[in-house]
Amino acid sequence: MTFTRDAYLSQSWLDRELNELFSENWQFVCLTSDLQKVGDYITAKIGLFPIVVLKLDDEQIAAYHNLCRHRGTTLLEGKGNVGKSIVCPYHRWTYRLDGRLKGAPQMKTCFPDLDRAKLSLKPAGIGVFKGLIFVNPDPKADFEDFIGPIADKAWPHDLEAKDVFETPALHYKLNCNWKVFVENAIDGYHLAYLHEQTLGGPVVDENLWERHGDHMIWYATDEADMRHALPAKNRKEAKAWWASKIKSADSVGYGGVYFLFPAMLITATPYSFSISSLHPTGPTTCDMKVRQFGKKGEIKDDRKYIPGYDKATNTIRSELWTKAALDTGDFQTEDIWICEKVQEGLTSPSYEPGPLSKGPGAEDPIGWFHTSLTKAMPH
Ligand code: FES
Ligand SMILES: [Fe+2]
Repeated sequence: MTFTRDAYLSQSWLDRELNELFSENWQFVCLTSDLQKVGDYITAKIGLFPIVVLKLDDEQIAAYHNLCRHRGTTLLEGKGNVGKSIVCPYHRWTYRLDGRLKGAPQMKTCFPDLDRAKLSLKPAGIGVFKGLIFVNPDPKADFEDFIGPIADKAWPHDLEAKDVFETPALHYKLNCNWKVFVENAIDGYHLAYLHEQTLGGPVVDENLWERHGDHMIWYATDEADMRHALPAKNRKEAKAWWASKIKSADSVGYGGVYFLFPAMLITATPYSFSISSLHPTGPTTCDMKVRQFGKKGEIKDDRKYIPGYDKATNTIRSELWTKAALDTGDFQTEDIWICEKVQEGLTSPSYEPGPLSKGPGAEDPIGWFHTSLTKAMPH
């Protein structure tokens, strides 16, 4: 089953996705290590819901709906530390870190009957897996339902290990519907063709996506009876380029790419680890934030070498490319180029979906993705 062009072009389809998919799902927000001190917080938008994740004490992290119980002002912005309480900037209602309303200015005069117990910050669902914090706007949502299907097949990387280092995140502004980018990311058929000059494969029967619930895990299978995070060609190159592997990731058999439904990709190799989250910004545009980790001393801030990087806004945009995508030697640039070309093609009224190539190392995963989307948004 494939979607018609409406799914990639219309505001009404995007509105449904924001309401029924992104607002009702788990989304990666940050790492536990991003919240070091009591009172540290990070805000995020999950579908239509502004959310804040906050460190309560040495043990506990909470997620709240980021809005005041008085008139609804969003309470916190970006990230930072709230100190001992959260104070609304509008009329200074004050909340304890555990979400309870402490008080309001001139409470006795203005609110003689205020029932503070009924006006705590609304909780959101929170789940932690391998140091990654996920939030669901619904506090009753079951995190196990979400992470369970991949939990025992996950990457071995320990992001808090001493030999792991994070470089500045990448922020891509993409001119395509978010689903176009996902469909390309889980398409094993294009690897040997679009990426001939960069990844150089593998071909369809030397790689596979495995389905785990709505999630998927990608493996290179170009060596008999063995599953690898990287294809043999890249493993050889990596040996030549990189001095050593990340200690915790120095084992075979884990997946190279983890797609977490609906819009998150984790790329895990013996040398690196990255977390990409897609956020729709319109029917035909999306943002992608990529956090990158590698071996200390070997991974560098390479933003200025990325085609389309603009230092002033710290964003990466195809409008700023100075050479042809296929001449850049960067497979991410090749993917962005092709996704924006697909989006352009979908815009034509003469577009109709063609057949998908069969097989788990070809385009079966696109069909699985569409089945999961249809299940998540049934009407
Ligand atoms: S809206 Fe927050 S104190 Fe009034
Ligand atoms: Fe690709």
